[in-house]
Amino acid sequence: MNIASKSSFVLSRRHLLGIEGLSQQDISGLLDLAEEFVELNRQVEKKRTSLRGRTQINMFFEASTRTQSSFELAGKRLGADVMNMSTSSSSMRKGETLIDTAITLNAMHPDILVVRHSASGAVELLASKLDGCSVINAGDGAHEHPTQALLDALTIRRNKGRIEGLTVAICGDILHSRVARSNIILLNEMGARVRVVAPSTLLPPGIERFGVDVARDMREGLAGCDIVMMLRLQRERMNGSYVPSVSEYFHYWGLDTKKLAFAKPDALVMHPGPMNRGVEIDSIVADGAQSLIREQVEMGVAVRMAVLEALSRNLPNA
Ligand code: NCD
Repeated sequence: MNIASKSSFVLSRRHLLGIEGLSQQDISGLLDLAEEFVELNRQVEKKRTSLRGRTQINMFFEASTRTQSSFELAGKRLGADVMNMSTSSSSMRKGETLIDTAITLNAMHPDILVVRHSASGAVELLASKLDGCSVINAGDGAHEHPTQALLDALTIRRNKGRIEGLTVAICGDILHSRVARSNIILLNEMGARVRVVAPSTLLPPGIERFGVDVARDMREGLAGCDIVMMLRLQRERMNGSYVPSVSEYFHYWGLDTKKLAFAKPDALVMHPGPMNRGVEIDSIVADGAQSLIREQVEMGVAVRMAVLEALSRNLPNA
């Protein structure tokens, strides 16, 4: 069934490499388009044909559950041929450079490439070497994870009715988090107030330059906030010891009902996943009435459909 979208929004760029550089109109346009897909995804018949004939390749050089599966589902629901390129057994592991990978990919003529890589900037480098295809950053090192910030924004907007004027506390391992970075840029652009809450070892030096308030304990950080966004300790990006012990970290920085009570009574809790229960978040809160964590996963598919659709409208012969 090819029901045309009500929204004719087109993203005025070929790639989505980050939130940086997107305007309020770009962000709202993507969120409005995603709303249509939330409805579609709740129907029995979930298929559109707007990407029919297009090839989407997912290349995940880093582990992923939610992001990779939701990009796969999103592409399939729009009618694209989706291929997951296995990177654990690929030639990259045999020493092939990213540039050689790009040359190989060019020969396969994909229309859309979704890439996750452990190095900041690797996705942009790959994009610069590819002809005629759109590249979506599914997370590059500690740099950006644009579709995560967009799905978080959609979840917030649907539950609070707006983004502008809200206070959002982002708590935990800010230093190693591309989710924090993309969210800070998006939330600032959309007029929310962002507070980062973390021990000083997990805060990038000069974070204030990003236009955030810094709080160094949970009571101060959560006071009066509308949204509490928790982050995992990203140990795969740590060399050395950043926290004394897991139990001490949970005691001071883990979100439990006692700490959540510092926030507004109607505050909502978010987490991009994967969650480490008992480290940064208590199960009672993660599964509780104020949690939006499951809804974030649902919004992820809709947002990725919106990004694929909006970028595909720019492809040659679209
Ligand atoms: C995040 C990521 O990969 O950056 N997860 C995700 O995309 N759902 C956050 C994380 O790994 O902690």
